Amino acid sequence: MKILVIGSGGREHALVWKISQSKLVDKIFCAPGNGGILKHAECIDIKTEDTDGLLELVRKERIDFTIVGPEASLAQGISDEFMKNGFKIFGPGKLAASLESSKIFAKELMHKYSVPTADFKIFDNPDDAKHYIETKNGPWVIKADGLAQGKGVFVVKTEEEAFNAIDLVMVNKIFGKAGERIIVEDFLKGEEASIVVVTDSREFVAFPSSQDHKRVFDNDEGPNTGGMGAYSPAPVVTRELFEVIEKDIITRTIDGLVQEGIIYKGVLYAGIMVTQQGPKVLEFNVRFGDPETQAVLPRLNSDLLELMLATSEGKLAKFKKFGSLNWNKKSCVCVVCASKGYPGDYEKDKVIYGLEEAEKLEDIVIFHAGTKVQISEEKDKKLDMKYMTNGGRVLGVVGLGEGIEEAIRRTYRAVEKIHFEGMHYRKDIGKKALENKKSHHKNCATRINEVA
Ligand code: AMP
Ligand code: GLY
Repeated sequence: MKILVIGSGGREHALVWKISQSKLVDKIFCAPGNGGILKHAECIDIKTEDTDGLLELVRKERIDFTIVGPEASLAQGISDEFMKNGFKIFGPGKLAASLESSKIFAKELMHKYSVPTADFKIFDNPDDAKHYIETKNGPWVIKADGLAQGKGVFVVKTEEEAFNAIDLVMVNKIFGKAGERIIVEDFLKGEEASIVVVTDSREFVAFPSSQDHKRVFDNDEGPNTGGMGAYSPAPVVTRELFEVIEKDIITRTIDGLVQEGIIYKGVLYAGIMVTQQGPKVLEFNVRFGDPETQAVLPRLNSDLLELMLATSEGKLAKFKKFGSLNWNKKSCVCVVCASKGYPGDYEKDKVIYGLEEAEKLEDIVIFHAGTKVQISEEKDKKLDMKYMTNGGRVLGVVGLGEGIEEAIRRTYRAVEKIHFEGMHYRKDIGKKALENKKSHHKNCATRINEVA
């Protein structure tokens, strides 16, 4: 089969890498791709939101199946367009993608179908929103309704901060139309986890839990980023909790969508806060997480493409009957190496050193995000190939280990081999998993002592 993957980040590199291992694949295209993806796929310079250009590519190259990475393409209806033209695609249609492209749509659906989430109010003018803030104690969470590249959420502690956020979104319109309406929701306390399932609306197949690290600095300090690292599994999601999430969140959401007449085929990603009152939804995404995918796919033994094909054909029940997915028991850690200045303005075009050496280490795989390849002719006419930085998040260094400790150790050993000018990364990816494990052991020990 010929496959097209749409996107250019670390998530898409992980998808292309995994799919390249499928026995069903003859050739992979990626649009637009990145320096690392070039190893497994032909990269074509078409923008992810250029649906017409992508359709033309699929026609010209006779591509059998397209996999969509980023949400913006889905929100603009690429799946509907491809299906209308008779092409197979993995990812929900425009209406279904509202689950991510409109936080208000998602909240109203959750409210209607009793999916646990923070209490909230919707506002379409700043004065009403401010008046509401005055009637309630903080902290509050203020969210722009539409897509804002992960920047549309403000967690605020004082009234002044809340008013500023409301003004930025609704008066200064920093997100344009995406901020015409906002949500003010209660602040939830707890630990976050990411739950991903693939569904065809009738059935779903769950992936192992994972945890993202959104803040730029260690100990969750500094501004939010696209994600500075991840690990899987996330010990905060115990087996019992996973079952509650499947029952109260995933099943109710999929069934709710069906009741609304929306057939959802693709990834359903729930960002969860594990609170003392149980798991609650922070957000839904309609695509794989980034960087969670980089920390989850290396644990998958089965053929991902078979799952995606079954999903788009509405045949997940049959897929599950024949064995579903097989996961290895290892832990996996992904550490993101970022450019100087990220998540603010950052520098590009820095040579990346040490990739080969790092990749040689045991159980290490490196997924590229903001990289490109530069080929130059040396004096002796030999071609020299260099990887250069080309984005804010540059690489995801991924390590597997028998437990989380080993995975962390291996990953950081590989990170230390890599260098580019201004490179920065978090040094504490996976620390929460270690703490959770320790407290779990302590609780077990206490219980044993109590019994004794
Ligand atoms: P979202 O895009 O809605 O997931 O929000 C981005 C980040 O903001 C989340 O990953 C959380 O860290 C934080 N956040 C969002 N909603 C809440 C909430 N109700 N309570 C506490 N933190 C939140
Ligand atoms: N890692 C968070 C996201 O993919 O939205």
